[in-house]
Amino acid sequence: MRLLLLLILIITISFSYGALTPKNLAGEPSEFSSFNIPNPMDVAQSSDSSLLGISMAKSQLKNTFEWSGIVPVDSDKEFTLTFFSSFPLTEFNIEASPKTPSLKSGEHQQQQHKFNNHHKYGKFFKSLHQTPTITNGSFGIDGATAPSISLTWEQPTVGDWNVLITASSSLRNNEKFKKMADDSTPQLLMLIQNPSDTHIYSYVSSYNSLFTGQKVSVLAMLHKKSEFLSKKTRPVNWKPSPLKLTDVSAEMVLGLPDGSKETIPMYDDGLHDDEQANDGIFGGYVNVSELGNYDLQVIYKGVQNGNSLVRSNQHLIPITSQYLELTGEVQSSQDGDANLNIFFIVTSANQTTVDQTPVHVYSEVYGTDSDGNKVAIAWVAGISTAQPIETSSTTFALSAVLNERWIAKVGATAPFFVKNVQISDLDTFIPLSNTSSTSNVKMIGEYKDVRTIEHTPALNVITKEMRDGKMPKELAERVGKSTGNGKLILTHGYCSEGVWPIEDFENSVEFQDFNQNRGNDEFAQILANFGAQFTDGFSLVAHSQGGNAALHLVTYYHSGLDLSQQLEGRIIQTMGTPYQGTALAGTWASIGSAVGVGCSSNDDLTVDGAALWLKSIPADKRAFVYYTTTQYDTGSLINYCNLASNAVLEWPNDGVVDNEHTPLEGATYLNNFKDWCHSDGMHSPQQTTNTEYNKEMSSNSVW
Ligand SMILES: *[C@@H]1O[C@H](CO)[C@@H](O)[C@H](O)[C@H]1NC(C)=O
Ligand SMILES: *[C@@H]1O[C@H](CO)[C@@H](O)[C@H](O)[C@H]1NC(C)=O
Ligand SMILES: *[C@@H]1O[C@H](CO)[C@@H](O)[C@H](O)[C@H]1NC(C)=O
Ligand SMILES: *[C@@H]1O[C@H](CO)[C@@H](O)[C@H](O)[C@H]1NC(C)=O
Repeated sequence: MRLLLLLILIITISFSYGALTPKNLAGEPSEFSSFNIPNPMDVAQSSDSSLLGISMAKSQLKNTFEWSGIVPVDSDKEFTLTFFSSFPLTEFNIEASPKTPSLKSGEHQQQQHKFNNHHKYGKFFKSLHQTPTITNGSFGIDGATAPSISLTWEQPTVGDWNVLITASSSLRNNEKFKKMADDSTPQLLMLIQNPSDTHIYSYVSSYNSLFTGQKVSVLAMLHKKSEFLSKKTRPVNWKPSPLKLTDVSAEMVLGLPDGSKETIPMYDDGLHDDEQANDGIFGGYVNVSELGNYDLQVIYKGVQNGNSLVRSNQHLIPITSQYLELTGEVQSSQDGDANLNIFFIVTSANQTTVDQTPVHVYSEVYGTDSDGNKVAIAWVAGISTAQPIETSSTTFALSAVLNERWIAKVGATAPFFVKNVQISDLDTFIPLSNTSSTSNVKMIGEYKDVRTIEHTPALNVITKEMRDGKMPKELAERVGKSTGNGKLILTHGYCSEGVWPIEDFENSVEFQDFNQNRGNDEFAQILANFGAQFTDGFSLVAHSQGGNAALHLVTYYHSGLDLSQQLEGRIIQTMGTPYQGTALAGTWASIGSAVGVGCSSNDDLTVDGAALWLKSIPADKRAFVYYTTTQYDTGSLINYCNLASNAVLEWPNDGVVDNEHTPLEGATYLNNFKDWCHSDGMHSPQQTTNTEYNKEMSSNSVW
């Protein structure tokens, strides 16, 4: 069947933040495999902590609200309890003691702590064998934080501990508190950490079914962290070996987008995508029916060497609808410059908005060489909005452009083919549809053989236009012109205010999209539109998610960064950027919503969201980035930037991002400074306030 296309060759996309022109990305066939959809098992979260919602109930005997429970302590190194609440933490009284007191010094180990500065307990602790260290912190990501208080016992007695939490008298009369007690809504969250080699490892089994109406399968196991091989060193298909404990159980606690909660059991019966029965791998299914972010906590319990143990991971799973599907039909036409416009025909079950919803498109393109053999030409990618097709109301076309120089470079001609086509949602980078088979490309109109064209520069030169497509006219006109209007833009991260001392930077301006929760794409567009006033171009010094947005911008849209690329100096320098996401994003989603912090969750910051996004970023764009990381100081018994986030992140970390998730392959790694932390209020100064280094970044910047 031959469809008539409405050939809209200039794709105009109306964005609410002003019109940016998406790039027509392309690159060499040697890069094909870097665009494969990542294996979720490779980006699984691993942790030795667990998060517990504490819902306090009216005590039968006393006129108070309380919670009591058993918390297993399985590490003799350290035991830390961290608390979060939407109520002042000083309103809770915590008592924790080993169930079977160790009698070695003949002392009773009852340990009581009031967060407020009650004179009585000061004395009380002096006589104790084990006294917790109390640490105040501010837990969260960038500008979105909640206060926390941590109690740390060094060399604790291993075994079950009794924990009793009592609410102060003022909370007894607090209506909101009482209502939460009636509804069994947790008033307090407790993060339990036992630094140990036994970690939980959990992940969704596939990124290909995160759609409403689907069954999402989740897997969990315990493993030995010391045997874990990092992505760089592990062989293909390597996976951690599950530990087999006794009395094991696993479950999921699901927070739905509408705010409701569900508990879902997990099974090790070989019937829940969990491989063999009784192998230590548990599986469970989540039926997803709502669009939006699901908070998913996976909890694993068991007994190891006679001691009970509990671990949890907190994931944030974005669910979208499969609003576009590839049909496998592909058409193409040549434009006036002999470039190939490739149209991927898609169907939509939801026509209401698809023609206004830009998506990410990627494809490998092949041609035919002079011997008639199939030859790989290039990959093409970019942002495209579905265009309606004249003859159908359910069929649309997504497009990508291949510069003719790529075709001439490998001496190829028609017929053309595409393979490994992927379309993904631009907000979440969830794959909407992908094919691995080869499709023939139907030419519309005559094909002009580009091998006969005289090419300057020579074809061994890969021009910017081959990689990015044509610059929009108004930008192209400014290339190489200098009017003295270029700037270094300093950008903050997620939900944040300004973080850079502007006096450290010359010729700079602060980007002020303060306290907002933006996906990378939206963040990048707002940044570009702010930068548009600097008509000679701009460069970026970015903190945290600002770095992801900067890389997204230089990849997907033509902007002033492209003008700056032609000049000497760096266009993107980043500090503390979670290129591979942060496990804190999932945990923060649980804690932030429970303590009522204003910014909602951000799925681009999760390890899964970041992995899906990052695999779409080609090597030549990564090469523009110069990045720096920091971490806590070392040398103490317990080293941290923030004690609570230390329980969720790998070590070392900067309190928000760990050094396992900061590397950006293909970019220039500069430094990892010790004794600098991600945010204000952490154990060491904020990483953006290193004046000496800021001056260095300033002088290395294009502007
Ligand atoms: C910790 O915070 C509490 C209440 O916010 C305060 O009373 C106490 O003095 C703080 N302690 C330290 C060591 O900063
Ligand atoms: C999910 O849906 C299936 C089929 O409708 C049902 O059998 C199963 O019990 C559901 N699971 C949960 C956890 O709701
Ligand atoms: C269609 O898309 C709109 C907007 O994205 C969304 O609100 C709606 O739920 C979708 N409908 C279906 C059936 O997916
Ligand atoms: C889409 O990609 C996934 C992951 O690479 C793969 O498992 C699946 O088979 C692909 N789907 C199709 C239809 O090729």
